[in-house]
Amino acid sequence: MQTWVAAAEELEGRLHLPAAALDAVAGRFQQAMDQGLTGKGGSLKMLPSYLAGPTGQERGTFLALDFGGTNARVALIELAGGQCRILERVSRPLRAADGSYDYTRRTATAEELFDFLASLIAETIRHHQGRFYLGHTFSFPARQQNIGHAALIRWVKEFHTAGVEGRDVGQLLNDALARRGLLERVRPAAIINDTVGTLLTATYSDLDTRIGSILGTGHNSCYRDRFVPAFAAPMVINMESGNFDGAPATDYDDQLDRQSQQPGAQRLEKMVSGLYLGELVRQILNERIQATGLFGGQGTPKLETPYALTAADLSEILSDQAADLSGVGQWLRMRAGIEASDRAERRLLQRIAAAASRRSARLVAATYLGALRHEDPVLSNRHTIAVDGSLYEKMPGYAQDLDDALAELLGEKAGQVSVRLIKNGSEVGAAIAAAIVAAVG
Ligand code: BGC
Repeated sequence: MQTWVAAAEELEGRLHLPAAALDAVAGRFQQAMDQGLTGKGGSLKMLPSYLAGPTGQERGTFLALDFGGTNARVALIELAGGQCRILERVSRPLRAADGSYDYTRRTATAEELFDFLASLIAETIRHHQGRFYLGHTFSFPARQQNIGHAALIRWVKEFHTAGVEGRDVGQLLNDALARRGLLERVRPAAIINDTVGTLLTATYSDLDTRIGSILGTGHNSCYRDRFVPAFAAPMVINMESGNFDGAPATDYDDQLDRQSQQPGAQRLEKMVSGLYLGELVRQILNERIQATGLFGGQGTPKLETPYALTAADLSEILSDQAADLSGVGQWLRMRAGIEASDRAERRLLQRIAAAASRRSARLVAATYLGALRHEDPVLSNRHTIAVDGSLYEKMPGYAQDLDDALAELLGEKAGQVSVRLIKNGSEVGAAIAAAIVAAVG
């Protein structure tokens, strides 16, 4: 029988992407950007945001609605020229833990969902006087008609709410605010993607910011284009890079894709984001259990239930640094229901998790390189990449793997590029977008 060490090496080999392969991914990504920008199709939608970016001088108090993950959040934010302060914040899950409501399921309607969002806005401003411009971060692929209107192209991240796809989310929010009599107090001004929010927030204090990216439940990046021919202007472009289809997929990726909500869509996101990384590892483990008798050849409900293994599980597995990997053993016992495992099996599990996480970081680095080269082919300028999201912030080793991959790919130009964690970018960015619109009236 194959030893667990050999099994780990084989899997690592399958998931490893050497620098040359990453460089090729960067090239294909850059090509897909060009195709998308010139309307020639391809997997990158390259959606205009109708924003060029902040000057850093925007000031005032604005409302931010952040919708796109587990929780819907509303905040009242004071912008003070390069700095900001959260005055009030309300955050609620879109699915109640006790099952009393779930605005993401198919039986929930658009009106119910947007009424819920309007109620959070009402709660946020109830102790504050005045009328506020509102920026709305909507973290789904949406085709913008202008800064205040955007139609949802399709749900992703396993959202299903009825009656939103194809409709203008600006109008849906407006209608919900009207139903609650809130339009006197709230003026919806801008809709942005969360990557755009992250880019705006970082740019507010660092004008070298070139890319905004989310590495959390979902994955996507935007960038600031110096000049978009169709608009004869500089503009931030939401690439919807999670849909990129030029990364080399393994059989595991193909299987995960076939069994997902939308086979064929969001191929990169399914290889890199938090929602899918745990699932990928779960599928690899199950295949190993059957093929090699790992963990005594026995599955457990945790390992047999789709999406039961989460990025948080992987973080827990990867954070164990004890020589005997007792933390991994405990995870197996408590969370996966596997009683006896020896150290070699525990190490195999940890190595699979690390390999999946590292591949994610390396693939994302390659897409950043493609976007940077599009703007600055020989990297003669300094560029900041602003990243938000739990994967980047919390997965042990992830940020380092991303930095290492960029350093490997950039060689002597590595000093030109820095990656920066931007927390709450989607929230603060919504306020900045509202401020940009308010400034022009
Ligand atoms: C969505 C993007 C979003 C990303 C991160 C993806 O699933 O398509 O619009 O930016 O998740 O939240």
